Amino acid sequence: MSLEMSFKEVLAKRKSVKEFDPTVKISHEEMEEMIQYATTAPSSCNMQPWRFVIIDTDETKEKIKDLVQFNTRQLNTSSAFIFVLGDVDHFKTLDPIYQKSVDLGYMPQEVKDQTVGFLSQGLNLKEREYFLYNAMMDANLAAMQFMLVATSYGYDTNPIGGFERQEVMEVLDIDTERYFPVMMIAIGKGVKPPYNSSRHEVSEVISYNKGNNGQVGTI
Ligand SMILES: Cc1cc2nc3c(=O)[nH]c(=O)nc-3n(C[C@H](O)[C@H](O)[C@H](O)COP(=O)(O)O)c2cc1C
Repeated sequence: MSLEMSFKEVLAKRKSVKEFDPTVKISHEEMEEMIQYATTAPSSCNMQPWRFVIIDTDETKEKIKDLVQFNTRQLNTSSAFIFVLGDVDHFKTLDPIYQKSVDLGYMPQEVKDQTVGFLSQGLNLKEREYFLYNAMMDANLAAMQFMLVATSYGYDTNPIGGFERQEVMEVLDIDTERYFPVMMIAIGKGVKPPYNSSRHEVSEVISYNKGNNGQVGTI
């Protein structure tokens, strides 16, 4: 599979699917290919704070089965649950990330040195909350791209916010100081057509240049 599907088709096809063919397995090679495309997403200062735990064994699924609230069917039938996390310590990777751009010939060494120096000064003053919000924004962008990429690869997905966050972190042995849970994404081959879902009209959700008596849009 690949990214051959038209973008229009991808957008139309991406629907939340809640029951999958349990016999379908996704190889680690294909999963990593999809993650690679997903992580072309933009991120704040290119720090790429997204992290992914791929839950694709019965043993690990069993460990979290009581922690996924009303999402048991997706857990039981999906090829995998992707646990998307944010790394709150992502600023520590600033130097190596920019150095990699230099090594790849994308950026001159002096520009890297200046940029990293400048950014480090600003980032040193920030509270944990700042990094947490950044990581949340960035990891969400990668999660969205992952779902679109997966659609293009012929898979179905379901973003999942309904799970016991802290308990899942503990059960999966993930440091809660450093990482925080963003969302799960169930992935597999759907067994029946997904439900359609309505959207607000564009006119209901936009305003040009300013709010309107404090309101944005009309709803
Ligand atoms: C952040 C987030 C959390 C969600 N959590 C769940 C969930 O826990 N269980 C579920 O069945 N669907 C969940 N959904 C799916 C939404 O219900 C679905 O995206 C929405 O109804 C629109 O339908 P569509 O995805 O088919 O376009 C979630 C979606 C998002 C974006």
